[in-house]
Amino acid sequence: MIQQFKDFVFNRENRGKITLWVVGCLILGYLVVGVGQFVVLGFPDNPPVEYTVQWDSPRTEELWNRACRDCHSNETVWPWYSYVAPTSMLVVYHVNEGRESLNVSTDDVGEASDVGSQIRKDKMPPEQYIWLHPTAQLTDAEKDELIMGLLTTFR
Ligand code: HEC
Repeated sequence: MIQQFKDFVFNRENRGKITLWVVGCLILGYLVVGVGQFVVLGFPDNPPVEYTVQWDSPRTEELWNRACRDCHSNETVWPWYSYVAPTSMLVVYHVNEGRESLNVSTDDVGEASDVGSQIRKDKMPPEQYIWLHPTAQLTDAEKDELIMGLLTTFR
């Protein structure tokens, strides 16, 4: 059995077949994982907006939309790579987790009291998000503005 397998694998004539099998398995594996993740994590989608925050100022809303909205509301702008594995896993997972801790589209907003420390400690927005969305990078002055605005809004 093992000898037969060796004979098959090490026979030059079978190279084409073997390559085809390997490539076929890789493609199949990719498809299974690529589709399976949407079953496990959910498809990138925006559930209905159930609640609209009364922002203390248009400026707070503007900064929020730039740096936080994609992961903490049901108004996510889904980039193309949120539909393609493997990046899709990270994006969908982050938005799920983000919405779970804080979601301004629901009437129970969530951990709003933590916004100040999260922004101040540069934990939010996450670094990888800034790489892909350079406009989410806030200056120190903008961070102050956003923190004050959010604290007033969610008070
Ligand atoms: C790329 C997605 C993403 C963006 C953009 C983002 N967050 Fe988050 N946020 C998360 C995830 C994921 C969690 C939950 C995991 C964690 O706590 O690290 C979270 C958690 C939080 C929490 C709860 C933290 C805790 O456990 O106390 C707060 C508050 C928060 N985010 C505020 C913000 C604010 C404010 C912004 C904008 C300045 C922002 N986030 C931008 C993904 C994001």
